[in-house]
Amino acid sequence: MAFLCLFYLLLVGFLSKSQIVVAQVNVQTTLLAIGKELEVPGWGDNGTDFCNWRGIGCNLNHSLVERLALSRLDLRGNVSLISELKALKQLDLSGNNFHGPIPSAFGNLSQLEFLDLSLNKFEGLIPGELGSLRSLKSLNLSNNLLLGEIPHELQGLERLAEFQISSNSFNGSIPSWVGNLTSLRVFTAYENELGGEIPDNLGSVSELKLLNLHSNQLKGQIPSNIFAMGKLEVLVLTQNRLSGGLPELVGNCKSLSNIRIGNNYLEGVIPKAIGNVSSLTYFEADDNHLSGDIISEFAQCSNLTLLNLASNGFSGVIPPDLGQLVNLQELILSGNSLFGDIPKPILGCRSLTKLDLSNNRLNGTIPSEICNMSRLQYLLLGQNSIKGEIPHEIGNCMKLLELQMGSNYLTGSIPSEIGRIRNLQIALNLSYNHLHGSLPPELGKLDKLVSLDVSNNQLCGTIPQSFKGMLSLIEVNFSNNLLSGPMPTFVLFQKSPNSSFLGNKGLCGEPLSLSCGNSYASGHENYHHKVSYRIILAVIGSGLAVFVSVTVVVLLFMMRERQEKAAKTAGVVDDVANDQPTIIAGHVFVENLRQAIDLDALVKATLKDSNKLMNGTFSTVYKAVMPSGMILSVRRLKSMDRTIIHHQNRMIRELERLSKLCHENLVRPIGYVIYEDVALLLHHYLPNGTLAQLVHECSKQSEYEPDWPTRLSIAIGVAEGLAFLHHVAIIHLDISSGNVLLDADFRPLVGEIEISKLLDPSKGTASISAVAGSFGYIPPEYAYTMQVTAPGNVYSYGVVLLEILTTRLPVDEDFGEGVDLVKWVHGAPARGETPEQILDAKLSTVSFGWRREMLAALKVALLCTDSTPAKRPKMKKVVEMLQEIKKT
Ligand SMILES: *[C@@H]1O[C@H](CO)[C@@H](O)[C@H](O)[C@H]1NC(C)=O
Ligand SMILES: *[C@@H]1O[C@H](CO)[C@@H](O)[C@H](O)[C@H]1NC(C)=O
Ligand SMILES: *[C@@H]1O[C@H](CO)[C@@H](O)[C@H](O)[C@H]1NC(C)=O
Ligand SMILES: *[C@@H]1O[C@H](CO)[C@@H](O)[C@H](O)[C@H]1NC(C)=O
Ligand SMILES: *[C@@H]1O[C@H](CO)[C@@H](O)[C@H](O)[C@H]1NC(C)=O
Ligand SMILES: *[C@@H]1O[C@H](CO)[C@@H](O)[C@H](O)[C@H]1NC(C)=O
Ligand SMILES: *[C@@H]1O[C@H](CO)[C@@H](O)[C@H](O)[C@H]1NC(C)=O
Ligand SMILES: *[C@@H]1O[C@H](CO)[C@@H](O)[C@H](O)[C@H]1NC(C)=O
Ligand SMILES: *[C@@H]1O[C@H](CO)[C@@H](O)[C@H](O)[C@H]1NC(C)=O
Repeated sequence: MAFLCLFYLLLVGFLSKSQIVVAQVNVQTTLLAIGKELEVPGWGDNGTDFCNWRGIGCNLNHSLVERLALSRLDLRGNVSLISELKALKQLDLSGNNFHGPIPSAFGNLSQLEFLDLSLNKFEGLIPGELGSLRSLKSLNLSNNLLLGEIPHELQGLERLAEFQISSNSFNGSIPSWVGNLTSLRVFTAYENELGGEIPDNLGSVSELKLLNLHSNQLKGQIPSNIFAMGKLEVLVLTQNRLSGGLPELVGNCKSLSNIRIGNNYLEGVIPKAIGNVSSLTYFEADDNHLSGDIISEFAQCSNLTLLNLASNGFSGVIPPDLGQLVNLQELILSGNSLFGDIPKPILGCRSLTKLDLSNNRLNGTIPSEICNMSRLQYLLLGQNSIKGEIPHEIGNCMKLLELQMGSNYLTGSIPSEIGRIRNLQIALNLSYNHLHGSLPPELGKLDKLVSLDVSNNQLCGTIPQSFKGMLSLIEVNFSNNLLSGPMPTFVLFQKSPNSSFLGNKGLCGEPLSLSCGNSYASGHENYHHKVSYRIILAVIGSGLAVFVSVTVVVLLFMMRERQEKAAKTAGVVDDVANDQPTIIAGHVFVENLRQAIDLDALVKATLKDSNKLMNGTFSTVYKAVMPSGMILSVRRLKSMDRTIIHHQNRMIRELERLSKLCHENLVRPIGYVIYEDVALLLHHYLPNGTLAQLVHECSKQSEYEPDWPTRLSIAIGVAEGLAFLHHVAIIHLDISSGNVLLDADFRPLVGEIEISKLLDPSKGTASISAVAGSFGYIPPEYAYTMQVTAPGNVYSYGVVLLEILTTRLPVDEDFGEGVDLVKWVHGAPARGETPEQILDAKLSTVSFGWRREMLAALKVALLCTDSTPAKRPKMKKVVEMLQEIKKT
């Protein structure tokens, strides 16, 4: 072989030819053994030059493996053998399914500079042997199941620049030698159980730029020394037990852009030196015991985007200078003891989207120019002592999502201009004030509003009939006013508890016990509303709690809790300069993808038709190329139903839970974005399209006709994915070949796990079949049970299997009227047809072996599509039966 000769010629020193060949053969033998153990796809396929194998990088003369990069391949197995690749400089095994302890033999990889084992299930202690990796510059063990203390042997890693051990269960304290690592630039140990104090030399001798220790049990003070070198850029210490103050020395760090120290026991004042931190972008110190004035020095930090000082002991007035912060997007000062006015200069913060001054002692008035801050989405002024009238100009805050003014001393009437804020959706709360006059009928135009509270005022007159236009309402409170007359006939009103209306002068009609006589008859206009309600209830009732909630997350939450987090995670807070819609919430679950995913670019991509990949009834799929080069598939949900907002927290958790479901045959969501009333779900982009395309389109164009073994392994993969879902008690709402995606190796991934085809019955687009799945896949029992169950999933899977076997569509006019694929197949014996007339003859006639296997799989498909749910096998059994076929 040519390269062997070259290799020989290049070889210097004492090795004889045979020794070189032996050496190289040894490397290859090792690699083959590794490939076999870990089942690395494609290894060994490319002849002898292992340097071309996936993920392998060699030295110049191709004699040694220096780089092994096998991230995100869902590998498992014993990684110990890798330690025999003694020349390795870079080893990346991140994002796989590796279990067990980190092999201590890795300590023998003396050339190693980069080691990334993150995002696996490595467990147990960090082996002290890793301390002998003297060349190591980057060590990433985050997101595993590691525990115990950080071993002292690691202090031998003198060249370490990046040290990441977040999201494990490490305990003990942060060793003081970490501060002696003179090259250290990045140290993250967040989400562990670390106690003790932050070593006070940490950062004093290093290049430290990023220190993230949030969500531990750290005590003591924030050591002044971490600011000593002035290199720090990001400091995150949120959610610990830190006490003492924020050191004056913080002013030393001109390039510090992020300070997050919320949820601790910090006390004292914020040092004026904060004004010297010219790069400051995020400052978050909520939920501490900080006190004193809110210092006007913040105004010098011209890039400040978020200032959150909520739930502390700050007093005094809001410094007017803050109005110079033209980039400020969120100002959150709730839960302090601030008094005085909302200073007019503050209205200069023209980027502000969130102003939360609630729960203070503000005792001025609301400036009539408040809406000069035209981007305001959250105006939260509740629980203060604000006087005067609500200015009519409030109607100019066109982007408001939430308006909270409850529990103040507001007088005058409710301005009808509020009806112009058509975006208002989370809440309109004017309760506990001194408002009088009547309810303006214009409020009925707020058709997105979910919660309306005008209770405990002196409002009079009737509840206007136009309020029936508030179609999204789920919560109202009119109690303790001077209202009178008949209640409008409106499902939401009649379903509300009567406490929502009590304490008025003369309100009558349901739900109050006082009837109005018969002069106010009700109409039928709310029929549709009732129907949609029923459909939602039917779905909820069908034991799909997880599903519905997950779906609903996506569809509905759009709300406040996430808002802050969204801003934190992906720099959502930046931008908004152009016409692009404003992102309400967004989150990328997978930490290491956050850098690569630009939420704004993503939204932009979904605005372009040329990026459209697929158009479904309820969602459209787009391809989005990120500035980082990463390609995503983005599912845009067309409709949102806002009815179940109250479950949002649990729902978000469900979506996050779903993102952690780890199975190689499931498409997991990697994040979401909400803007206006659109929800985007992010997934990895899979280049090979869907199973439906592969089976039905490819065979037509005879581009690539998938052979039987390929089809069988796809069938098994889909079955495994579904068996796993059932194992974790999740029922899929829409199994079809169109929802099975194929990766580059034709491995199937079941998609649409998080979106069922729920629902926008209000627009008349949803039918019962849309709830149950796609036409042709709906189990017959659904017609009377209205429930999608695990056996129902088995049926739908059986249809997919029949498609694979027959290359026929689930519904086709050829079958005859009222006959779908299932009926056509089950009716074959009655028609006197042989299996050959059913199976795709292009495949079943290739060999006896294929024919035998296809007949066996046909039996499985017939069992799955049995009309009696109880007779269908469990998904797990289906997997076993199909695997049996493959073996024989
Ligand atoms: C190949 O390169 C390595 C260093 O990368 C060197 O040690 C070895 O001697 C070289 N072999 C030959 C044949 O030149
Ligand atoms: C085989 O090598 C070629 C280039 O030499 C590469 O493009 C291809 O991906 C390799 N195939 C596998 C399975 O590693
Ligand atoms: C992996 O293999 C090594 C050596 O073959 C063995 O000592 C070790 O116990 C194995 N580890 C696991 C997790 O099976
Ligand atoms: C490291 O290598 C040495 C020498 O090859 C060997 O004796 C030792 O067992 C290895 N250590 C581990 C943990 O495998
Ligand atoms: C740390 O965790 C290990 C393993 O769970 C346990 O044995 C040890 O007692 C813990 N140490 C401390 C200081 O909590
Ligand atoms: C860190 O370095 C200082 C000064 O070089 C030394 O005195 C101290 O012992 C070292 N600490 C540790 C834990 O190695
Ligand atoms: C503010 O941000 C801009 C854009 O990110 C940056 O170019 C500028 O240097 C920053 N200003 C300061 C004072 O850090
Ligand atoms: C607001 O409250 C502060 C402190 O209680 C008081 O000094 C001030 O006079 C009040 N202002 C108005 C306008 O009531
Ligand atoms: C692990 O950390 C290293 C060094 O900071 C980084 O380069 C790498 O991207 C991280 N791995 C993942 C999967 O995030």
